[in-house]
Amino acid sequence: MQTIKLNGDVHMPILGLGTFRVRGYSTVYQVLDAAFQAGYRSFDTATVYQNEADIGKALKELLPKHGLTRKDIFVTSKLAPQDHGEEAESACLRSLEQLDCDYIDLYLIHWPGKQGLKSEDPDNKLHRQKSWQAMEKLKESGKFRVIGVSNYTVEHMNELLSHCRIKPSVLQVEYHPLLVQTDLLNFCSSAGIHLQAYSSLGVGKLVSEPQIIKVAGKYRKTPSQVLLKWAVQQGIGVIPKSCNPERIKENFMIFDFSLSEEDINTISSLHSGTRYCWDPTHVA
Ligand SMILES: NC(=O)c1ccc[n+]([C@@H]2O[C@H](COP(=O)([O-])OP(=O)(O)OC[C@H]3O[C@@H](n4cnc5c(N)ncnc54)[C@H](OP(=O)(O)O)[C@@H]3O)[C@@H](O)[C@H]2O)c1
Repeated sequence: MQTIKLNGDVHMPILGLGTFRVRGYSTVYQVLDAAFQAGYRSFDTATVYQNEADIGKALKELLPKHGLTRKDIFVTSKLAPQDHGEEAESACLRSLEQLDCDYIDLYLIHWPGKQGLKSEDPDNKLHRQKSWQAMEKLKESGKFRVIGVSNYTVEHMNELLSHCRIKPSVLQVEYHPLLVQTDLLNFCSSAGIHLQAYSSLGVGKLVSEPQIIKVAGKYRKTPSQVLLKWAVQQGIGVIPKSCNPERIKENFMIFDFSLSEEDINTISSLHSGTRYCWDPTHVA
């Protein structure tokens, strides 16, 4: 498994499993079991996914089953938008408790705004600043190995870099061929921050995109493998989600081929600014 060396001197697998909408203990157990079997060692969750406790419980059973220990895996979770500000520290500790872990590898601020405040409310800035300070404290105490943010724009990133004591290691954003966020990618590479993509498969919709199907045929790969490889080959981390054991396996089989530069560019030219998830550009 290819890994990324994050600032903070921590290695993260470039491909992990997304777990949004993976709910209920038996589903979580089966999905993680299939993922371990396929080779996944990294798992992306969040407080708002309401599956941290089930993931924690499943890991306790699955690590020994697969001959692994906690240090063999990489767990990411996120601070819920409702917990920004004063509540951030206790919310971070709750994530640790729910996951039943002594530490979390990567903890992210899920969203730049506080739930309940209007997007344009300038107090959002104060809340996310307090959240970052709480996360810095938990990183210093060893509860988080590295910390980062999600859904931040270049403006949010510049603001964070102007006040942080600990630099973010990761920025997780929506990124796929219809949403090629070049400004964020360039910002991250010059700041030494890893850009990790979510919704790489366009929440499943991009596997039917004719141009992707055409490129996939050329390499005898599937559209989802091409979508994931397109990102990974550019140094962008991916966390595809699937509840289907065959697709979980399929999404992992991307390390035995390379796309030509021409095909990478052809895929990138599909960019249309299409978002499948939330748009943070108006959060003050
Ligand atoms: N930070 C954020 O704000 C944020 C936002 C969104 C997502 N995320 C994270 O990113 C992860 C991935 O994003 P996502 O879940 O939005 O979407 P995604 O990974 O782009 O797509 C998931 C969808 O694609 C389907 N799928 C998976 N593999 C497939 C394959 N090989 N062929 C055809 N269809 C396939 C899945 O269905 P089946 O399950 O039926 O296979 C599911 O419906 C999330 O789970 C979450 O961990 C973070």
